[in-house]
Amino acid sequence: MSDDGLKHGEVGHWAKRKYHFLERFLNMFTTAMKEHWQMHYIDLFASAGKARIKSTGEIVNTSPLIAASLKFPFDHLHLCDIDEENMSALGARLEQHINPDRLHLYTGDSNVIVNDIAMKIPRRGCLSVVMLDPFKLGHLPFETVKAISECHGDLIILLPDGMDAMRNTDAYYSVSEHSALDAFMGHRD
Ligand SMILES: C[S@@+](CC[C@H](N)C(=O)[O-])C[C@H]1O[C@@H](n2cnc3c(N)ncnc32)[C@H](O)[C@@H]1O
Repeated sequence: MSDDGLKHGEVGHWAKRKYHFLERFLNMFTTAMKEHWQMHYIDLFASAGKARIKSTGEIVNTSPLIAASLKFPFDHLHLCDIDEENMSALGARLEQHINPDRLHLYTGDSNVIVNDIAMKIPRRGCLSVVMLDPFKLGHLPFETVKAISECHGDLIILLPDGMDAMRNTDAYYSVSEHSALDAFMGHRD
């Protein structure tokens, strides 16, 4: 458990670089766009909002909490995770800071929920940052990327190459007719 007693993730030390660059990008985006657009942050693999760095024990904010703590805040946050405990920890962490009208929490498979989220965001006057950070290629079929791309804005996709693609190259290329890599790419070729 974390310092606030809620569930947290476990990440390698490298994750700090991910959070550093994500925060820099989100700060640039919201600073530049705040006067002109209604701003939405969409995180389809949100996790619990805090993680422990395995090698040091340090507790750090993860993507949804970073997005919720910017100097110029997003107007709306749309956050989804399949793990109920993650979502209840994330909700508890965010509800103290964010007006509930701005917070849209979804527990379930983001590949199913993605269309509901995309429909909620008006096509005119809104700009979104979409964060897609799956553990495995198989968790993010190309259809989901296509569906969320209907929302105008920027898309950040973290490819689990070391954790998944490189380790499972044989399985993805030679063994399966319909591998996770095919689903991720949207076709076999
Ligand atoms: C790599 S972690 C996300 C890390 C987070 N973005 C961060 O900043 O540390 C992937 C998350 O995806 C969730 N997940 C796995 N499959 C999912 C699915 N089909 N739909 C939604 N969430 C899923 C897991 O529970 C996990 O919390």
